[in-house]
Amino acid sequence: MGQVNGTDFLQLDATTVPRGHRASWLTDAIRKAIADGHLSSGMRLPATRALSQDLGIARGTVTEAFQRLTEEGLIVPNRGGGTVVAASVAVAEPPAREDDEHPHVVDLSTGLPDLTAFPRTAWLRAEREVLSRSTDKELGYADSQGAPELRYQLAKWLGRSRGVSVDPKQIVVTSGVTQALSLLAQVLRDRSSDRGTPTLAVEDPGAEGNRRLLGYWIDRVVPVPVDEHGLVVSELARIDPTAVMTTPAHQFPTGVALSPERRRELVAWAANGGLIIEDDYDAEYRYDRAPIRALHGLAPHSIAYTASLSKTLAPALRLGWLVAPPDLHDAVVTKKWATDLGSPVLPQLALAHLIRTGTLEKHLRTMRTRHRQRRDAAARAVARYLPDCTVEGIAAGLHILIGLPERFDDEDIARRAAERGIKIHPLSLHRATPGSPGLVIGYGAHPPERIDHAIRLLGQIITGSRQDR
Ligand SMILES: Cc1ncc(COP(=O)(O)O)c(C=O)c1O
Repeated sequence: MGQVNGTDFLQLDATTVPRGHRASWLTDAIRKAIADGHLSSGMRLPATRALSQDLGIARGTVTEAFQRLTEEGLIVPNRGGGTVVAASVAVAEPPAREDDEHPHVVDLSTGLPDLTAFPRTAWLRAEREVLSRSTDKELGYADSQGAPELRYQLAKWLGRSRGVSVDPKQIVVTSGVTQALSLLAQVLRDRSSDRGTPTLAVEDPGAEGNRRLLGYWIDRVVPVPVDEHGLVVSELARIDPTAVMTTPAHQFPTGVALSPERRRELVAWAANGGLIIEDDYDAEYRYDRAPIRALHGLAPHSIAYTASLSKTLAPALRLGWLVAPPDLHDAVVTKKWATDLGSPVLPQLALAHLIRTGTLEKHLRTMRTRHRQRRDAAARAVARYLPDCTVEGIAAGLHILIGLPERFDDEDIARRAAERGIKIHPLSLHRATPGSPGLVIGYGAHPPERIDHAIRLLGQIITGSRQDR
């Protein structure tokens, strides 16, 4: 064990330090020496008496500094006497950011919005405003169902933008759609003791992540086919599920809107006690067609409605909302309370501010224009570089589905694309049962020229894969 030389301990000079400040000065100096490695773990410090003599300061001052450092856990009494530097806790550096590691990868695999357009200044202004107005009490634990101010603003927003008519008391603020689905799945599972094991029907193809998440909570997750009119509702009679999860405004990943007949059929199915889980994940983006109202208004007593900010602002905010039907509401609120006592309040209040001041609406107008340009670039590039393929789902959202001729293997194409620096999801990833091949292209996060470049490369890969046959 090393011993620090007391006579020139860290080459400190106390003569210029005013009395009354010396304990803090010595504490800071030792703390810094430990942080930058001059004093390493296990090294013995000089005795307080020796150090006080060497530095020409009172022994009580040295004792005081040692005491503070002991309280901070930086030094500890040595079993054989004296004091040593405590064992350091090795904290690994965070891994390099993915962008830095793969600067040339174009990631088209997710339906991200244009994150460069995140309204940073407006968000900062909203947070500053919230912090300057909030009381100390408001920094304590809040209502686990969500900040009342946000629920009030959301109720108005949902009514205006989605035709969802709700009382703020019915809204639960969640960590995105993901948490809304988790809460619902747990509530359905908890009820299984009196109603039998729940069966959850999910769209096929449907978001692979959501299917996996629901499968984590519920054993029986059963695929229901999707066709050009959306979910094939007639299949529900055969499966007889407890609940069905659907993306009616813009089916993920095919992009079709649930037809009016199917909407009616679905609501009729739910009238016999079934639950519809409506995932309204990218509802704010409509380009060439009138907005499709949420299903919720047709049967509020049978529909759990959920959406989030992930496509309108950024997934990193982890803010979403859930409107559960009245018979599930209390159980959902209790589950949310038992999970995390409520979502972080300050971002909720910042969002409420953005809605109240019209900033979110303004931001969305900008985003719609940008995303429409990106969508146009993607559709043009497919027509140009992939003339044998179809494009689906372009009227809305942040992704398109490229339909490949039957002879192609979409997983193989996705693999080859990844080797050339283009990340895409093969449609088969989102399928629970085999079906036609396709590629899901998230265009929202990339400028038109990058989308064009990536789809041109895809065209070369697909031409190559055709030549291989
Ligand atoms: C179908 C679907 N649902 C929901 C979400 C959003 O999930 P969250 O709100 O948890 O970010 C996504 C995001 O990609 C999605 O594709």
